[in-house]
Amino acid sequence: MPDFSTGCGAMIAETGARNASFPPGRLQEFWPWLDEPADCRCVAMRFSWNTGNTGPLEASDFDVPPRIARAAPRRLAEFVAGRRCAGEALRLLTGRTLFPGQAEDRAPVWSEDIVGSISHSRDRAIAVAGRSERYRGLGVDLETMLTETEAREIAPQVLTERERARLGRRIDAFTVGLAFSAKESLFKALYPIVRRFCGFDASELAGWDSEGTALLRLTGDLSPEWCRGQEFAVHLGCLDGFLITRVSIERGQARPLAEGAAPTAQRRDHIVPV
Ligand SMILES: CC(C)(COP(=O)(O)OP(=O)(O)OC[C@H]1O[C@@H](n2cnc3c(N)ncnc32)[C@H](O)[C@@H]1OP(=O)(O)O)[C@@H](O)C(=O)NCCC(=O)NCCS
Repeated sequence: MPDFSTGCGAMIAETGARNASFPPGRLQEFWPWLDEPADCRCVAMRFSWNTGNTGPLEASDFDVPPRIARAAPRRLAEFVAGRRCAGEALRLLTGRTLFPGQAEDRAPVWSEDIVGSISHSRDRAIAVAGRSERYRGLGVDLETMLTETEAREIAPQVLTERERARLGRRIDAFTVGLAFSAKESLFKALYPIVRRFCGFDASELAGWDSEGTALLRLTGDLSPEWCRGQEFAVHLGCLDGFLITRVSIERGQARPLAEGAAPTAQRRDHIVPV
């Protein structure tokens, strides 16, 4: 099996080939990952924020929080675009058009029967929404591919010392971008459950497989339920030069490892530990 970066790169090229591109100015359902969607919908769009033509970004059918309404046009546009994607994902999932609110801590507020997540980068927005009877949490993150210079700058914040030691010469722009995006997706999926901020040292890349999945492992206890050693699959996709990661936490997934048990990555044949 090829090494981490080469293998993931090849896999990601494949997911990109399965999709067209972000549709300009309109909402489009798509699924940029290699697994199958289950009780979950994903919608994306490309928006413009500096042309005066807000088009589908008109926000007349949901409340924009005052702090967002006062924000710079770019922030307003990305907020509205993210909410539009979320509204369409919810409509596809439930038949009802609803838009998530915004909590004081910035986390989106979904109705009780739904979990979801929003991300935006440059002029693209994406949202996933799933049924809470199946999922405890969903996290999505959209990032432009990093340049080598950007990767060098952020690597010390994104990768723990142990990750840097383990990855060694395999640390490149792709690996740093993947770790960054994967950890943001995990944060978005877990935060609504644990209600606790955690930094990039809260999890580490533990492995990857050839089916578009990387593995993150918690480095400490976030709550009695979500403990050190717990692993999360991160689905990877690529579109238009953007990396798109998703973490889906299914009900019943919290399984703290017994003291001394081998981490899952070492027990699965198809997972290559890093
Ligand atoms: C909150 C955070 C993840 C947002 O990521 P970002 O790259 O700035 O921006 P994105 O466009 O990808 O995501 C923004 C969206 O995340 C969502 N979001 C914000 N805070 C959130 C939270 N606490 N929980 C879940 N989702 C949250 C919002 O929907 C937001 O969009 P909106 O403000 O338009 O509604 C990031 O700013 C952060 O604080 N990261 C540090 C924590 C972390 O990643 N730890 C990793 C270890 S597990």
